[in-house]
Amino acid sequence: MELNTIESHGIGAAAEHSAGTDRTAKKVFVKTYGCQMNVYDSQRMTDALVADGYVATDAVEDADLVLLNTCHIREKAAEKVYSELGRIRDMKAERAVAGRELLIGVAGCVAQAEGAEIIRRAPAVDLVIGPQTYHRLPDVLARVRGGEKIVETEYAVEDKFEHLPQPKRAELARRGVTAFLTVQEGCDKFCTFCVVPYTRGSEVSRPVAQIVAEAERLAEAGVREVTLLGQNVNAWHGVGKNGEEWGLGRLLFRLAEIPGLARLRYTTSHPRDMDDELIAAHRDLPALMPYLHLPVQSGSDRILKAMNRRHTARDYLALIERIRAARTDIAMSGDFIVGFPGETEEDFEATLQLVREVNYASAFSFKYSPRPGTPGAEMDAHVSEAVKDERLQRLQALLLRQQQDFGLSLVGKTIGTLIEKPGRQAGQKVGRSPWLQPVIVDDKAGGIGDIIEVRITRTGYNSLFAELV
Ligand code: 5AD
Ligand code: SF4
Repeated sequence: MELNTIESHGIGAAAEHSAGTDRTAKKVFVKTYGCQMNVYDSQRMTDALVADGYVATDAVEDADLVLLNTCHIREKAAEKVYSELGRIRDMKAERAVAGRELLIGVAGCVAQAEGAEIIRRAPAVDLVIGPQTYHRLPDVLARVRGGEKIVETEYAVEDKFEHLPQPKRAELARRGVTAFLTVQEGCDKFCTFCVVPYTRGSEVSRPVAQIVAEAERLAEAGVREVTLLGQNVNAWHGVGKNGEEWGLGRLLFRLAEIPGLARLRYTTSHPRDMDDELIAAHRDLPALMPYLHLPVQSGSDRILKAMNRRHTARDYLALIERIRAARTDIAMSGDFIVGFPGETEEDFEATLQLVREVNYASAFSFKYSPRPGTPGAEMDAHVSEAVKDERLQRLQALLLRQQQDFGLSLVGKTIGTLIEKPGRQAGQKVGRSPWLQPVIVDDKAGGIGDIIEVRITRTGYNSLFAELV
């Protein structure tokens, strides 16, 4: 999966929202693992449950239903879920003594991949639901409350998004001035290390009208920046009003027309699906932020081939050259895997070389983790943990230097910043740079949702400090 798998726990669902005055309403706590798509899915599941009479809570101890929205991309992600399930099982046992019910649900990619195995390994779990059937959650829960244990991991024939309720405008506004919007799901690329084509299924694009309507709702609720999500988002395609074929570039041009939407982003892309219109969107659309997450995974053609990436290191570098020609201030981000089966020191050196050539503003790098059922797991010449560790450290040291240099290159410059929320310290607010860095500004610099011009004064570990100009 090529969405950044930054840990993103909790969906920030305040206890008060929706039926907050109803003390008898059942409460749901959702914990999110993995990528941005899971964050989005958690919100949509919460919306479905709220429409069904639940209230969302941030406090697990208040919950009548705990839902873990899981990630299967690498080993540790699934293991974390099982240890969390252990803790919740103990809570459920204590509750049973007190005569109060606690339901436990597992959603997301571990649910899809493991199915009934989850209930065998963690019998306290009441329901297992895969990403393609979230719209059935209220029905499934009704059956669970009737005493059934349910595993729902079929790919639904009906359109999930069509059936998921939209949240109220006030709820959208409460979620802040930036939002995710899934436009595409699943993947047909079958990179040999990746479990996504098995957990999220084959590529599906949401229709133009559905996406535009959702973006308009977000904008009306005060959202200023929308990030379009898809495992392979630049493979999104749709059909316009007059029957013409649309690609992601065309969609971005359409979304940029929506009043109030000042910033657009998309993630994550495959190098093979960057077409001319998408590159033109980077050239012609000021709203499209100059930041592109374009994973390459390795700089060695031999490994790229074994990974079934279907491009070479040269292809990738040539593509970036074209993108940079279209938008000179674009900052590149990427994903890397070290220690794929068969990777030699020479292959790894080629990765370091590619990183030096691209000069990334940010990047994510991982040790290869064999995923059951993927071709990579069956390959010979697995690399030892010690070698993976050592390569990861070298790669991350290089990437960190590049990231810091990028931050330093902005000092003294004036940039647009979207004010997102109050800062952790009194007297501060946190904004977002065009290149996704948090920007710390004076509280009085602007209101939440404003886009202001600021001068960068210095860099923090992962952030920028700025003054109003
Ligand atoms: N092992 C290690 N990293 C992986 N990724 C995907 N599958 C694996 C795996 N089996 C990484 C890729 C992808 C990112 C989201 O996670 O770099 O782009
Ligand atoms: Fe996984 Fe490759 Fe598809 Fe990305 S493009 S989701 S890495 S199979």
